[in-house]
Amino acid sequence: MTAGPGSIVILTGAGISRESGLATFRDADGIWAKVRLEDVATPGGFARDPALVHEFYNHRRRELRDPGVVPNAAHLALADLERRWPGEVLLVTQNIDDLHERAGSRRLLHMHGELLKVTCTKCENVFPWPGDLGLETACPGCTCVGRLRPRVVWFEEMPLYLDEIGQALANCSVFVSIGTSGNVYPAAGFVALARKAGARTVELNLEPSQGASLFAEAVYGPATQVVPAFCRRLLQEAGLPAA
Ligand code: APR
Repeated sequence: MTAGPGSIVILTGAGISRESGLATFRDADGIWAKVRLEDVATPGGFARDPALVHEFYNHRRRELRDPGVVPNAAHLALADLERRWPGEVLLVTQNIDDLHERAGSRRLLHMHGELLKVTCTKCENVFPWPGDLGLETACPGCTCVGRLRPRVVWFEEMPLYLDEIGQALANCSVFVSIGTSGNVYPAAGFVALARKAGARTVELNLEPSQGASLFAEAVYGPATQVVPAFCRRLLQEAGLPAA
């Protein structure tokens, strides 16, 4: 009996979008060195000062709309891998930017939400939202004013799609973690679940993450270099054309 091509689960974090011009969180020039996460990324922070929270995400939406912010070679390589790989490829991202979808990834789960969407705390509908959001904005669904919030998972809130991700990890043969410091759970625990499933575990990052010792393989360097090279290697090892 020959083993099939196997399924791949890929986890990405802020490091993959760094070379597209978006800041990471915990690097020296990262977002959490400039703003307190308690103020802008917790339900309590939003309750205390919603205007400040709106300003923070409005700024990040404007950054994402900057014509210079485009998918880089790492985002493109993952989309290409999904097209070429004969088995399942699931991309799970902690990022709220839309660079993976712009690169062409299709099976993609935004476990921490999406910057370009909002949700209404009254009617609970989700709406695409490319522009600014303020205290006076009315919900396009129920017309209530001041009840919209970014469709972003904050600290103390439950990440999205955990059942689907857990299933995929339990059945994967390769798990690749890219550009994440491994500080935030449950994402930081995915490598342990993949190991339990007997998967090959690979870390691609600028430097060893918190959980580096849990990975069987690692390549350290900028995502735009190490990710395309690793995708090529994976395809070649499976006897598939890489370009
Ligand atoms: N290529 C590859 N990796 C990079 C690059 C690069 N060009 N630049 C930075 N990195 C690495 C850093 O070395 C670091 O290990 O990316 C990682 C980014 O880590 P964090 O800033 O902690 O971002 P992330 O792991 O995505 O954060 C997880 O925390 O506050 C939150 O909700 C937010 O989703 C986010 C979560």
